[in-house]
Amino acid sequence: MRLVLKNIGSLLLTEHEPTPWVAGEEMASVELISNAWLVIENENIACFGEGEVIPFPDDEVLDCQGGMVMPAFCDSHTHLVYAGSREQEYEDKIRGLSYEQIAKRGGGILNSAKLLSETSEDELFEQSLPRAMDIIRMGTGAVEIKSGYGLNTADELKMLRVIKRLDGATELTIRSTFLGAHAVPASFKQDQEKYVRLVIEEMIPAVAEEDLADYIDVFCDRGFFTVEQSASILEAGAKYGMMPKIHANELDYSGGVQLGVRHHARSVDHLEFMGEEEIAVLKESATMSTLLPGASLFLGMSYAPARMMIEAGLPVALASDYNPGSSPSGNMELVMSLGIIQLKMLPYEVLNAVTRNGAYAMGLEETHGSITVGKVANLIITEAMPGFGFMPYAYGSSQIKKMILNGKIQS
Ligand code: NIG
Ligand code: FE
Repeated sequence: MRLVLKNIGSLLLTEHEPTPWVAGEEMASVELISNAWLVIENENIACFGEGEVIPFPDDEVLDCQGGMVMPAFCDSHTHLVYAGSREQEYEDKIRGLSYEQIAKRGGGILNSAKLLSETSEDELFEQSLPRAMDIIRMGTGAVEIKSGYGLNTADELKMLRVIKRLDGATELTIRSTFLGAHAVPASFKQDQEKYVRLVIEEMIPAVAEEDLADYIDVFCDRGFFTVEQSASILEAGAKYGMMPKIHANELDYSGGVQLGVRHHARSVDHLEFMGEEEIAVLKESATMSTLLPGASLFLGMSYAPARMMIEAGLPVALASDYNPGSSPSGNMELVMSLGIIQLKMLPYEVLNAVTRNGAYAMGLEETHGSITVGKVANLIITEAMPGFGFMPYAYGSSQIKKMILNGKIQS
């Protein structure tokens, strides 16, 4: 059966030929059709156009009542599988401890690892499923989810199995990332190299054996993993077919960006510390720059220099970083607002950053991220709005009226 959307005020981000990403000044433009219709068939976008549509007798018809239709968000960086929560760390922050100081005291990621080790796989799934359902309501259709709160083989596998179960249990398109090198467990503090060997020799083969990860990631930053350690982990993952993504330059000029590019990373993420050298190497690469303004907001730290990057001609993606420590929210409408308010991006730049460029950062650019015939019908239907810019402008409120994922209307 077909699903026909009629009375679309504006159909945003149409593409006749899908482009892998948009960069530089092209980020500020978006093609749209006013007064449009769209037809979905077999989970995919079958056709779309301007004006009136005449449905077939058997078609299901959805009246969009002048609302906009746009691609569902592609949130390319999250850690939404975790146990418990860490709101108690607020107090430490308010008392003046930094993110790094909290981590050094066994708080932060190690706190989440302890909670996760005490939680069964079923319980972890039960805790994570509402977060996955929640991001659908907030407009996300495709999401990348990382492990990294296990920090031992059994618990890393537990997380990745839960990610796989979420893929089966929801209409989200999910890409999974193995992030065993997220932090060094306390028991390895005296011998970090030994933990790196455990990641390489035991965890990566075990993850590959069960085919649980599309990507491999490392937290390559001051106080976490060095460039050399990160390089050996990315290389080991690549041997098992896991493509690199990397947490880089959140806390310092860590060399992580250059490392990511050398290893053909799909994306380098965070990028609060960016200089001319980092920008120059990214310009010559096929690596997406992914910025996470929610983490800067929550930690009260600096924001990535998005304007400088876009003006240098780079493509930029925005993602939520949904995690219990530095960004406990998967709200991509809020991420768009932060893109405008804090990163000084233009409305269409943020729209491209949370759709097409986010899809590229997950390797989904051929199937997601734009309104293109043949792509998966993952769509947001909005309330009637004066223009797209109203959505990020009206920060803290939602303009999302309905979600369609894989061609199905979500309740
Ligand atoms: O992307 N930077 C490293 N990892 C996460 C934070 C994880 C946590 O604090 O639990 C991030 O911000
Ligand atoms: Fe992260």
